Amino acid sequence: MKDFISVGDLNAAEINEIFDLTGQLKQDKAKFASVLAGKTLALIFQKPSNRTRVSFEVGMYQLGGNSIYLSLQEINLGVRESIEDVAKTLSRYVDGIVLRTFEHKNVLELAKAASISVINGLSDFSHPCQAMADVYTIKEKFSHLNGVTLAYVGDGNNVCNSLLYACAKTGLNMRIGCPKGYEPDKAVLKDAKAQAAKVGSSIELFHDAQEAVKGVDVIYTDVWASMGQEKEAAKRKKIFKEFQINTRLLKSAAKNALVMHCLPAHRGEEITAEVMDSPNSIVFDQAENRMHVQKAILIRLLK
Ligand code: CP
Ligand code: NVA
Repeated sequence: MKDFISVGDLNAAEINEIFDLTGQLKQDKAKFASVLAGKTLALIFQKPSNRTRVSFEVGMYQLGGNSIYLSLQEINLGVRESIEDVAKTLSRYVDGIVLRTFEHKNVLELAKAASISVINGLSDFSHPCQAMADVYTIKEKFSHLNGVTLAYVGDGNNVCNSLLYACAKTGLNMRIGCPKGYEPDKAVLKDAKAQAAKVGSSIELFHDAQEAVKGVDVIYTDVWASMGQEKEAAKRKKIFKEFQINTRLLKSAAKNALVMHCLPAHRGEEITAEVMDSPNSIVFDQAENRMHVQKAILIRLLK
């Protein structure tokens, strides 16, 4: 494994290996305190971030390594210098790069030209670190994944695409509830369905939120307008109105269903404050697990 770009690139055994290592990292932090000593991680971020940036920086520090944050202005990826030249230069200095960008092809181009590891820290197409942490969190809560059903309600965006792969590979059932025209990527959906069939789980698509959450164990949502879609926010608020996670919707799910959100959340839009702050909500466990899972990924790639 040179890079970490899509959950679709991993097989079930590799995912389990990362989860096992994550468990060890959570249990015995001190044991791994210098495992990445002398290693440096560069973070190139073309979009804002709280969780991804901080969890990678702190994670790297906890493993004995260093990190360098490079904002939009600093590297000016592809404008000041080509992606290829950035990759070749950074390959001489650091041991890994996390890229948060718009077009997914930027991640692929960077990884192709770099001799060091590249991690996808979110593109318009996918958010693999998020989905790995999410499925890990579900495994922690239920102690197993087989037979657990997650409903993703909202926009078929980057987070949804990555969750599709993560669920399909680990045996989680996934039900997607989204408005017409806001479905996840067609190819990902097809691929995920085929993979789910192999492990005996199911992936289903609905255009009705109530229908999607019927009896499910976990309800997941994300913002209606992702970073870069700010201009569409008003239009999307109307289109997604019926796809809000609220107390009424929660009633259609299994009793004590868990509620997840990758964050940042817009309380009152895709999720009500009441649900977000309820005992059903595990959003901050998810956020915390970003760091633990990413530490495992960093060890796998950089050690
Ligand atoms: N969930 C997530 O990636 O959060 P940030 O955008 O704050 O990094
Ligand atoms: N779909 C959101 C996820 C943020 C972590 C976005 O891309 O903005």
